[in-house]
Amino acid sequence: MIQTPYYLIDKSKLLLNMEKIARLRELSGAKALLALKCFATWGVFDFMRDYMDGTTSSSLNEVRLGHERFGKETHAYSVAYADYEIDEVVSHADKIIFNSIGQLQRFDRQSSGIVRGLRLNPGVSSSSFDLADPARPFSRLGEWDVKKVEPVMDMISGFMIHNNCENGDFDLFDRMLGAIEEKFAPLLRRAEWVSLGGGIHFTGESYPLEKFAERLKRFSGEYDVQVYLEPGEASITKSTTLEVTVLDTLYNGKNLAIVDSSIEAHMLDLLIYRESAKLAPNKGPHRWMICGKSCLAGDIFGEFDFENEISVGDRISIQDAAGYTMVKKNWFNGVKMPAIAIRELDGSIRTVRDFTYADYEQSLS
Ligand SMILES: Cc1ncc(COP(=O)(O)O)c(C=O)c1O
Repeated sequence: MIQTPYYLIDKSKLLLNMEKIARLRELSGAKALLALKCFATWGVFDFMRDYMDGTTSSSLNEVRLGHERFGKETHAYSVAYADYEIDEVVSHADKIIFNSIGQLQRFDRQSSGIVRGLRLNPGVSSSSFDLADPARPFSRLGEWDVKKVEPVMDMISGFMIHNNCENGDFDLFDRMLGAIEEKFAPLLRRAEWVSLGGGIHFTGESYPLEKFAERLKRFSGEYDVQVYLEPGEASITKSTTLEVTVLDTLYNGKNLAIVDSSIEAHMLDLLIYRESAKLAPNKGPHRWMICGKSCLAGDIFGEFDFENEISVGDRISIQDAAGYTMVKKNWFNGVKMPAIAIRELDGSIRTVRDFTYADYEQSLS
């Protein structure tokens, strides 16, 4: 038995997403790049590589990881590059997408040898949470004024537009793409490629994949562009669990179980967006609050229903622990960092990374 806590990536579940991505690519002609900001656990890149076209990034570190560990096509994007990193970014990328005309012009010389693009902001998005809304008022994410972009068209050959956010509604995607076409048609007609970003939950169970593929193909034909998608969450959804053990139980008006992990340290995104963790099957007569072991009063994974009472030593699997989770883990309270394990297609499990005191010590000085 592997010592908890550990993240467990199940390749047979990952495969379900990969097969849908491969099918979408085939039906639509769109290319799919893994968004490393969401998931960068390179131990499964060998497996994912056969189903995707490459990676996209948000920093020098990510573009380098994508280039070295995933290979294939490597897109570089960042909200802003620094002078000291631009040459190295370019050395790892096939395409560089600038967030602003200012950055495009500033790094004209350094980037002239590779394909260049610009991020456009259509001013509409599917997000209802302003923290994650790229189209929020005064958003710094991309250019929106066609008149300002037209004069730099000779420097670029394509665009990236990311305005979907956890969007599982095809009709909403379709409407927003229509708004993009209306606003940016003169620019799209002069482009060779357009990346529509991530945030589209097309690997979800009831998502109309064929309709989505048809819409992408139509868009591609209308403007004569190669379409890219940048799926993060859609690539890895439901593939991974966080495996924990109960260390203590208390009753303080509610049944509380403290586990050997921490939502603040190991599933931070849930806290930021004030969401509960997910447990399956979450059915039964016994309701327990599952709590983390950091000192934070609100270090709580959520309240769940169990078949039996919880006792010290019980193992619990927290679902959907891949996206924006492993990339955000941190050493708060010095809580033991979860190891990373992979369940192979034959069912065997191997630990690919264990973290020690030395990793904690070396994360600071
Ligand atoms: C530019 C860009 N591309 C791709 C993604 C991936 O989004 P998701 O993980 O929701 O698919 C994001 C997420 O913020 C993004 O900002």
